[in-house]
Amino acid sequence: MPNPSCPPTILLIGASRGLGLAMAHEFLQRGWHVVATVRGTARTPLHDLAAAHPDAVGIETLDICDPEQLAALHQRLAGRKFEMLFVNAGTTNPDPTQTIGEVSTRDFVDLMVTNALSPMRVVEQLADHVTPSGLIGIMSSGQGSIAHNERGMRELYRGSKAALNMFMRSYAARRAGSAHPMVLMAPGWVRTELGGPEAPLGIEDSVPGVVDVLLSRIGQPGLRYLDYQGRTVPW
Ligand SMILES: NC(=O)c1ccc[n+]([C@@H]2O[C@H](COP(=O)([O-])OP(=O)(O)OC[C@H]3O[C@@H](n4cnc5c(N)ncnc54)[C@H](OP(=O)(O)O)[C@@H]3O)[C@@H](O)[C@H]2O)c1
Repeated sequence: MPNPSCPPTILLIGASRGLGLAMAHEFLQRGWHVVATVRGTARTPLHDLAAAHPDAVGIETLDICDPEQLAALHQRLAGRKFEMLFVNAGTTNPDPTQTIGEVSTRDFVDLMVTNALSPMRVVEQLADHVTPSGLIGIMSSGQGSIAHNERGMRELYRGSKAALNMFMRSYAARRAGSAHPMVLMAPGWVRTELGGPEAPLGIEDSVPGVVDVLLSRIGQPGLRYLDYQGRTVPW
């Protein structure tokens, strides 16, 4: 666990705001160093965190949907190893109330690319920057559970996270026997821009649990689909 003379470091993808930003704060509080990404050049609250902790927080740039930016980040990180890689970045479609028959092809493609394809590309490309027993995690959602889908709603979003889960299972299956703990995380329904104001949980209710659960998986190889309280989510 965190050794003050050589703190472990997380590479956190998508930390400009919301859950990702709060995860950066939380890992810092737990004694970790953080290298976190934003899109574009605009100043974000993550920059304030980095300014307050210049020795412990670094900022990189990545739009996960841009393969050239991903390749460039891979290059910039040459020679660096991280104890954890976590892909938080994700979004939803413009009108999440639409049924799958109502969504446009454009919205379908955009969301599948952002939520399912791109996080896996990040994992595939950046995994060689993870230590041999380092944790590889992705922010999924309880809405990605096929077994728990009794009500429909948010159909495209659900489908994108279910696809993400399936791709991560394939990734893990190809690495059976590797020492990497792997986690698909369901953070609960949380009040963020994505979660909306009616969500029952605040960020402070979710993120400490998310971090507890990730840290609890260190040293335990294999893929788990877990919520922020450590409960297994049925596929
Ligand atoms: N809130 C919830 O209730 C809830 C529940 C289950 C799962 N989740 C998942 O948790 C993750 C974070 O959600 P949130 O609630 O914190 O949402 P949020 O406040 O809307 O934040 C989304 C984050 O993802 C980043 N992002 C989006 N598209 C990106 C891209 N193409 N490249 C790089 N970064 C990108 C955003 O960066 P910009 O600032 O540049 O846009 C932002 O940092 C998502 O994967 C989401 O699906 C959320």
